[in-house]
Amino acid sequence: MCGIVGYIGKDDAITVLLDSLKRLEYRGYDSAGIAYRNGKGIEIFKIKGKIDELQQILPTPLPSVNVGIGHTRWATHGAPSTENSHPHCAGGIAVVHNGIIENFRSLKMQLLAEGCEFSSDTDTEVIPHMISRGLTQGKSLKDAITETLSGLRGTFAVGIMSETHPSTLFAVRKGSPLVIGIGTEEFFFASDIPALLPYSQEFVFLEDDQMCTLTATGVELECLKTRQPSLFYERIMKVDWTPAMAEKEGYDHFMLKEIYEQPRTVADTCVEWIKDPQRLLDESGLTMDITVGLRRLQIVACGSSYHAALIGRYLIERLARVFVDVDLASEYRYRHPIIEKGTLIISITQSGETADTLAAQREAKHRGAATLTICNVVGSTSSREADSVLYTRAGPEIGVASTKAFTAQITALTLFALALGIRRGKVTLKEATNFKSLLMEIPGMIQEALKKDAEIRDLAKGLSQAKDYLYLGRGINYPISLEGALKLKEIAYIHAEGYAAGEMKHGPIALVDEGLPVVVLAPKDELFEKMSSNIEEVNARGGRVICITDEPGSLSRNVDNVIQIPRVHYLLSPFISVIPLQLLAYHVAVLRGCNVDQPRNLAKSVTVE
Ligand code: AGP
Repeated sequence: MCGIVGYIGKDDAITVLLDSLKRLEYRGYDSAGIAYRNGKGIEIFKIKGKIDELQQILPTPLPSVNVGIGHTRWATHGAPSTENSHPHCAGGIAVVHNGIIENFRSLKMQLLAEGCEFSSDTDTEVIPHMISRGLTQGKSLKDAITETLSGLRGTFAVGIMSETHPSTLFAVRKGSPLVIGIGTEEFFFASDIPALLPYSQEFVFLEDDQMCTLTATGVELECLKTRQPSLFYERIMKVDWTPAMAEKEGYDHFMLKEIYEQPRTVADTCVEWIKDPQRLLDESGLTMDITVGLRRLQIVACGSSYHAALIGRYLIERLARVFVDVDLASEYRYRHPIIEKGTLIISITQSGETADTLAAQREAKHRGAATLTICNVVGSTSSREADSVLYTRAGPEIGVASTKAFTAQITALTLFALALGIRRGKVTLKEATNFKSLLMEIPGMIQEALKKDAEIRDLAKGLSQAKDYLYLGRGINYPISLEGALKLKEIAYIHAEGYAAGEMKHGPIALVDEGLPVVVLAPKDELFEKMSSNIEEVNARGGRVICITDEPGSLSRNVDNVIQIPRVHYLLSPFISVIPLQLLAYHVAVLRGCNVDQPRNLAKSVTVE
């Protein structure tokens, strides 16, 4: 994903821009650039390479300027090159852009026919040319900007500065996240909150088709299409994240830091409502008539959040005795879902910006369903569009591979299921008290599971060259087998499949041959004996069994490797069984020299369908 930043105010713009861009590096990029305005007009410095290399080409000493824009580029249209880097400039207009302009080719053809000269292969470069054309037609700068951006199809977040308006910046959102940071006599914009954490904890999250005009003394917000003014200061949201939360703090990778943060983030998500889980329902905005009259839940999500949703189904059906359907968000609307009275749709999304999940949430809302989102980012699109919100307290998750957000989602789902069960009279207060005390032990149990890190790192040494993996689980640990496989796929680039162990005889067992690593989740629960049979089946065909269990003594000798985890209540076992799988994927990826935090082809938030 590209990243855009902008600054206007009393401080040194270049220093702020470079620092903010560095805080967006986790998004992955191949080139970077900044534009600022000094006495002579707009100066642009950009390079194919990292931000450190960009700094090398800047003037020394750095000029003292108070307004500028910056960009990290993750190439979509046009190969990585200095020419294709942003900012792009034409006619005294400089632009940075995150997203895709679907109709740029026809626009570019028109501009070329009018004699415009292009210096890049990007879609972005049509924007400054179109704005400049509007200016030569006598339009005001704002009119030229709104006319240009209204004529673009696709998704974008755009930052614009102009030579003729040295004390103004423009920020426009249509489909790609864009946040405005509020300082003292200074304002910022950025693609994501971590870029601005050292400068502000007060933000306004732009909505689609909103244009923000920023000066050092104030901000105006308006609709791009209608030009209707919108409230700005009344929409400020306070985010209690600190800059340190978005830094590695001594870990080799964000992912490892976030794996180790899980005892605290699970506790943080718990502590808010553990005393009175029903307060979670009220505070999330779910009215009593929705929760008491609830007949069916439909949960929509993608990726790891989808795996959390599958775990949520076990929890909610067991504790609250409500029907739960779980859909991949990208498939949901194509099955023309039936939404009867008493249906609640839950979207689960760490970023709150996943296009497929937003589309499913909007579809459900359009069909008349009440919507709840379980989300980790305050002010994100999902949290603003849903009827009710349940925030997880995982803090910023920087690593592309979701870990702490995943266990925070399970925490929220556990509390939600318990609260619903109590409200619907399916869980007695005594049972609730007992379950809550078990849940409060989970952070400590995760801490215990993390102590196996070194053992798992050693195990990974003999597994990093395997070409295929199978992950097997049953019951509430079946989704964990899917999650473990996804972790390995996305950061170690190894083909891995998660399967319901009971499915082995229906096909997958044909895959088992000499040395195939098969990770088996076998906590000593009601399904342990059946998992033991799966172990024998794999072993008999030469597969290499890596068993995650809380009862190694009960295992046969036919297990090649055992990772022991603490024993917990069946419904809480996913919190623990996922830890060794996160660590295994991490260590295998490191051994394979993969870019753990920014794996190839992936983005932290998939804001396009
Ligand atoms: C998980 O490790 C991946 N990063 C990915 O599957 C992710 O869970 C998915 O894209 C959903 O993202 P969201 O939770 O922000 O909606």
